[in-house]
Amino acid sequence: MGTQLPLEADHFLVRKIALGDVEEVARLHEAQNERPADREYIGRCIADVPSSLALQGERLVGFVYGRAFAPDLLWLTNLLVDEEYRGRGIGRRLFEHVEEQARTRWAGILFSNSDLWPHPPRPSPEGFYLRLGYEKVWTTAHTAVYVKRLVS
Ligand SMILES: CC(C)(COP(=O)(O)OP(=O)(O)OC[C@H]1O[C@@H](n2cnc3c(N)ncnc32)[C@H](O)[C@@H]1OP(=O)(O)O)[C@@H](O)C(=O)NCCC(=O)NCCS
Repeated sequence: MGTQLPLEADHFLVRKIALGDVEEVARLHEAQNERPADREYIGRCIADVPSSLALQGERLVGFVYGRAFAPDLLWLTNLLVDEEYRGRGIGRRLFEHVEEQARTRWAGILFSNSDLWPHPPRPSPEGFYLRLGYEKVWTTAHTAVYVKRLVS
């Protein structure tokens, strides 16, 4: 039997990503995606727009960040929850936290998912976005775009 992990997302601390977290975020990327992470890009993203990470104790277990798609539209380009910690509500908490920050300036959030990416996520995260109230607004043969309006 493996180590028993907490079942509720309440056991996790969620906060904005700080400059000092970039190395850990990059390492989690690399550990789970098996390709180099762009530390400079992460640093630029978190300086400019809302972001969120989840910690269990000292351990980074998930993050979401992105960049401006337009001056009032936030494009979340990177989302990851550590494989061992999926299905415990952490992804939902990360999104709720980022949306909370975004409401002060951003009119909406968008996300895309493509099977043309060198390593498309499996399984597809589409069900996750739909569950969190994102609407699929556009599809091409390979890519889907999801949006959530923050102001009506
Ligand atoms: C997508 C991902 C972030 C979800 O994180 P998570 O912590 O497992 O998600 P949660 O436990 O918070 O799930 C929230 C809700 O979405 C649902 N959900 C999660 N992943 C889902 C999926 N792939 N398909 C359908 N529903 C899904 C859950 O059942 C839950 O529903 P509920 O709150 O009504 O019970 C995680 O699976 C992941 O990191 N995947 C690999 C990377 C990835 O796909 N990134 C996005 C593209 S870059």
